[in-house]
Amino acid sequence: MFGPPADRAAAISLLREAVEHGVDHIDTAEYYGPVVVNELIREALHPYPSELVLVSKVGAARGRRGEIFAADQPDQLRRGIVDNLKSLGVDTLAAVNLRVMRASAPDAFFDDQLQAMVSARDDGLIGGVRLSNISLDHLEHALRFVDVACVQNEFNPVDRASQSVLEECRRRDIAFVPFAPLGFGSTSVLRNPVLARAAARLGCTPAQACLSWELEIAPNVLLIPGTSSRHHLLENLEASRIHLDSDALHSISQLHR
Ligand SMILES: NC(=O)c1ccc[n+]([C@@H]2O[C@H](COP(=O)([O-])OP(=O)(O)OC[C@H]3O[C@@H](n4cnc5c(N)ncnc54)[C@H](OP(=O)(O)O)[C@@H]3O)[C@@H](O)[C@H]2O)c1
Repeated sequence: MFGPPADRAAAISLLREAVEHGVDHIDTAEYYGPVVVNELIREALHPYPSELVLVSKVGAARGRRGEIFAADQPDQLRRGIVDNLKSLGVDTLAAVNLRVMRASAPDAFFDDQLQAMVSARDDGLIGGVRLSNISLDHLEHALRFVDVACVQNEFNPVDRASQSVLEECRRRDIAFVPFAPLGFGSTSVLRNPVLARAAARLGCTPAQACLSWELEIAPNVLLIPGTSSRHHLLENLEASRIHLDSDALHSISQLHR
C-alpha cells in the first residue's frame, strides 16, 4: 500500500492471473502507493473486462513516510473520486467507499460528506456509495439519506468489533467486506493454534479455514484478502470451495473471546 512493488512485472501478472481465475471485484484506493496501485491495475487490466467491478476509497491521503491522514472534506472527496477515475482510466466506478477518518458520532460533517458522495453518484461518477470504518450509528444514520451498497470494516475471527455492523448489513441486504480478513501483523489470525488445529483436521491451510469461516458466517460477505504471492492467490481462491463442519465453525467462532 506504500511505494512501488518489489517486482512490478510480477505484480502485473498476479493481477491478470487473479482475473483469469474469476476474481471480479478489486478493492483499491488512489492513496495506495499513492497512485501506484491504481496505475498497476490499469496497466494490467485496461480495457477492463465488463464483469470486473472496480471499487475505490476516498477520505484519506498518505504522507511521504506512508503515514495516513484525513483528506475528507466534501470537496476533497469529490476530487478524490475524479483522481481515481483518471488513474484507473474509467468514466465511472462501480462504487466508492467513503473512508471515515474521525471517531466522532455521525454529525453535520458526516452529512456533508454523504451529500458529496450522493452528488458524485447522481452525476454518474460512481454507481454506488460504500462506507468504510464506520460504527453502527454511522450506518443507521446514513441509511436515512442514501442507499448504502456495501460496508468495509476490519473483521476477522479474532477481531469481531464490527459484528453488529455485519449483522445489520445482513438484515438489510447490504454487502459487507471485511478488511484485514487474515488479521494484521502481530494479531495475525494465522498463528492461532485453534485455527491451525481446525485447518489441519479439515486438510486445508489456516488461511483457507479463516476465509472459509468468513464466507460461511454470513451470505453478504465479499472477501478481499490482499496478496503479493501467486501461491497465496490460488490458496485463497480455493477457500470458497472448503466446507467447515460444525466443530470447525464453532471453534473458530470462539477465537475472539
Ligand atoms: N478500508 C480500510 O480502511 C482498509 C484498511 C486496510 C485494508 N483495506 C483493504 O483490504 C484489502 C485487504 O487488506 P489486508 O490487510 O487483508 O491485506 P494486505 O494489507 O494486502 O495484507 C494481507 C497479508 O496477508 C498475507 N496473506 C494473504 N494471503 C495469505 C495466505 N493464504 N497465507 C498467508 N498469508 C497470506 C499477505 O502476504 P503475501 O503478500 O505474502 O500473500 C499480506 O501480508 C486491501 O487490499 C485493501 O484494499 C482497507
